[in-house]
Amino acid sequence: MQTVSDTPALRAAIRGWRSAGQTVALVPTMGNLHAGHQSLVRLARARAERVVASVFVNPTQFGPGEDFERYPRTLVQDQAALADEGCDLLFVPEVATMYPYGAQHSVSLRVPQITAVLEGAARPGHFDGVATVVCKLFNLVQPDLAVFGQKDFQQLKVVERLVRDLSLPVKVLSAATLRADDGLALSSRNQYLSAEERMKAPLIYDTLRKMRDLVNKGHAWSVIEQVSSTRLQRAGFMPDYAVIRRAEDLSEPAAGEREGLIGLIAARLGSTRLIDNLRLD
Ligand code: PAF
Repeated sequence: MQTVSDTPALRAAIRGWRSAGQTVALVPTMGNLHAGHQSLVRLARARAERVVASVFVNPTQFGPGEDFERYPRTLVQDQAALADEGCDLLFVPEVATMYPYGAQHSVSLRVPQITAVLEGAARPGHFDGVATVVCKLFNLVQPDLAVFGQKDFQQLKVVERLVRDLSLPVKVLSAATLRADDGLALSSRNQYLSAEERMKAPLIYDTLRKMRDLVNKGHAWSVIEQVSSTRLQRAGFMPDYAVIRRAEDLSEPAAGEREGLIGLIAARLGSTRLIDNLRLD
């Protein structure tokens, strides 16, 4: 696996594959790869002849006071993990490559509506940064397809809208969330948890499963959401939201609606903010 950090080297490698008629998949990441990321690469590998991964801790998607500085940077391990999965090319750009006028002064994309709620409301500007960097990566790599994880469900929806609305010639694929044996969704941020917090953290997934049970029993959304929030609070979490939404567009379902629902939770445990989701149908 080749690692490149500049645009001409990236384009040259891809041009060679293109001229040989090969298809290209992109797996965008912020590095610190775990088994969840590896499953994205495996899906990419299965669907395209060449796989490009990117590792870029994107400054524009972190708000003030968020974990941009302390976000784990583990390039050597990431390279080994990607090579193991058969990734062909790793793109590791500098900030100046992605944002030639500086991250503060870059062109910024805004995907409206779907970004006004949940993560978008809790982290203002976050999805502008995600949409902008993903569009830039698509322009640089020009992949046939790109793979995203379902754990960041709202991000997946934002990328789908970005692609459709700007007619970007990329097929967006998603891969199921990978979980630890106790149910905790794999995330680079799990390593911020203390041993005690790590033991509590699976309660998020447990609460999502409880939400699904309560939906199946026909309880009202507002009751389920309240019960879920309270359950998390009692265990020492500070929930940002624990809600039931339409998976299609994250709007609020009508009373009695049963199809196409998803439960989404974001909660802080100590200084770590965790998110997870579960289809409820
Ligand atoms: O999910 C992530 O790791 C990031 O948000 C992404 C898609 C790589 C954009 O920086």
